[in-house]
Amino acid sequence: MQPIISVNNLSKTYASGYQALRNIQLEIHPGEIFALLGPNGAGKTTLISIICGIVNASEGRVVVDGHDIARDFRAARSLIGLVPQELTSDAFETVWATATFSRGLFGKPASPAHIEKVLKELSLWDKKDSMIRTLSGGMKRRVLIAKALAHEPRVLFLDEPTAGVDVELRRDMWDLVRSLRDSGVTIILTTHYIEEAEEMADRIGVINKGELILVEDKVELMRKLGKKQLTLQLQSALEKIPPALDAYKLALAGEGSELIYTYDAHDADDGGQAAGSRSGIAALLRDLTEAHIRFKDLHTTQSSLEDIFVTLVSDRR
Ligand SMILES: Nc1ncnc2c1ncn2[C@@H]1O[C@H](COP(=O)(O)OP(=O)(O)O)[C@@H](O)[C@H]1O
Ligand SMILES: [Mg+2]
Repeated sequence: MQPIISVNNLSKTYASGYQALRNIQLEIHPGEIFALLGPNGAGKTTLISIICGIVNASEGRVVVDGHDIARDFRAARSLIGLVPQELTSDAFETVWATATFSRGLFGKPASPAHIEKVLKELSLWDKKDSMIRTLSGGMKRRVLIAKALAHEPRVLFLDEPTAGVDVELRRDMWDLVRSLRDSGVTIILTTHYIEEAEEMADRIGVINKGELILVEDKVELMRKLGKKQLTLQLQSALEKIPPALDAYKLALAGEGSELIYTYDAHDADDGGQAAGSRSGIAALLRDLTEAHIRFKDLHTTQSSLEDIFVTLVSDRR
């Protein structure tokens, strides 16, 4: 599949001397939702600002649907809509005027029908004549999306679309982004909320300290790295784990009062049969009984994308 955006050997050092991005390689597939996930200061805004032509790269190249962003800026930029991280808007304009004006900036002929469609999609139609300053925060953000979509871009960038948005509105935003994707727009969003990437993305890129440390299909990422843990509270503390249980690679905790079993989340459903090894909770419980180890309680925890992310990010530098 031909990527709609390709980023090659991209690096950025700001005038201050700070290197915000190192040798980024990234391809975005048409029609996907790509989440760029990373902690604050990782370089997310810098990266999308370069792709959108707002910030110059120090090294490397960005091509948008065949157009080099540096050499062929207007053509490349007209394919892109950007919803910035900061809520800036023309407070004294109406919703209708601001969206219409934004379309004009890209040299597109006026299209009231398109603006109407966008405002309806964003549930802003009944506010079209309202001044932006009279709208709620959630609506202002949707106005920014309407502005970004006014010139019919093929790719929409959303920089931290739900930062500072309460949980309920966050869900609305997620639904909205999915419906935009379903209408054919490729979506690239940045987020420092793991839950957001987990919920929304087809693919996830993890960025940390200016390096893209991983790009992976979300489901594949969860499958590869997801782990579950079963903790057993023992009736009486163990000094060491009996050799008969070696295969489970158990760990003792709580001064011998807890046994911890870690297993791949994707083996859990079939009791470990697929793994072809001695794993699985059912087998473990059976073998514990045989070894006369009794427990009074047990619980499982699932490592989420959060744990994976923390592991990835803390492993580096
Ligand atoms: N104009 C600038 N000049 C110097 N440093 C900058 C500038 N903009 C951002 N930075 C630094 O680059 C790093 C990445 O910033 P940014 O791309 O905004 O990260 P993120 O969006 O992931 O939070 C941060 O350490 C930030 O302080
Ligand atoms: Mg940012």
